[in-house]
Amino acid sequence: MALAIEKLHPLFVAEVSGVDLTRPMDDATAGAVRAAFDEHSILVFRGQDVTDEQQVAFSEHFGPLERMLVGSQGGGTPLAYLTNVDRETGAIIPPDDKRMIRNLCNMLWHSDSSFKKVPALASILSGREVTGEGGETQFATLRAAYDALTDDMKRRIEGLVAEHSFAYSRSQVDPTLLTREMKDEVPPVQQSLVRQNPLNGRKALYVGSHASHILGMPVEEGRALLGRLLDHATQDRFVYTHRWRNKDIVMWDNRAVLHRGRPWDYMKPRVMHRTTVAGHGPTAAGGRVLASA
Ligand code: OGA
Ligand code: MN
Repeated sequence: MALAIEKLHPLFVAEVSGVDLTRPMDDATAGAVRAAFDEHSILVFRGQDVTDEQQVAFSEHFGPLERMLVGSQGGGTPLAYLTNVDRETGAIIPPDDKRMIRNLCNMLWHSDSSFKKVPALASILSGREVTGEGGETQFATLRAAYDALTDDMKRRIEGLVAEHSFAYSRSQVDPTLLTREMKDEVPPVQQSLVRQNPLNGRKALYVGSHASHILGMPVEEGRALLGRLLDHATQDRFVYTHRWRNKDIVMWDNRAVLHRGRPWDYMKPRVMHRTTVAGHGPTAAGGRVLASA
């Protein structure tokens, strides 16, 4: 089946049509999707009425799937449930419930699983029940952000390694959000500040809410630099806003984009199911950038 690809933003993001993700996919089609993903960083598929099993089957074409953190909705399974609907009672989860506050942390710009030693390659998010207004997901291109840095800044950050920490990003929202067990599950990790796609050589500025500080630099100084780079990367000109329709699937490259959720009327249901394809290896170790980054 021939894929049709239409760009949705001058710098990244493409809508892909001519493919039905509810059906088994042949290797040639999966290869074409993978090539489009490496090229455009974000793929939008419309009208995909998938079950969880079909979403998992599609996702597994791109590598092994991550399991969700203990204590999250879907913990221990390959499905992340980003939802304000209680999966047992069907009631709206109140905004001050810890589950909701954890969901709201997604409103900070981030790259999925950058707090894991092997960070995520792709996230695949299915809009099961979307809101008419609000609840958009925004994406920022880290490639264009890297390219737009001054040569001086590019030189300054080359080879730098940042510490990423889930406990750090969550403590920004609510220091009591994580239990000891949840913190112990994901100790701080090292990530290269600049990532390069091995297929096409494109470099990306790997920042986001989990990035705490920079190794070999005083914490406050590193934090200030990370903040400056994050502000740079998330300027309007680098941002695409996805307005969800029911049955949309959006697949993004966590190496090359940041994303964040936007607020909505929390009394209205919003149900999103995500699968996450694991990356190939760590991007840094022992304070050094690894070639596989
Ligand atoms: C995610 C995420 C934001 C949203 O699925 O990883 O951060 O808009 N989602 O639901
Ligand atoms: Mn996310």
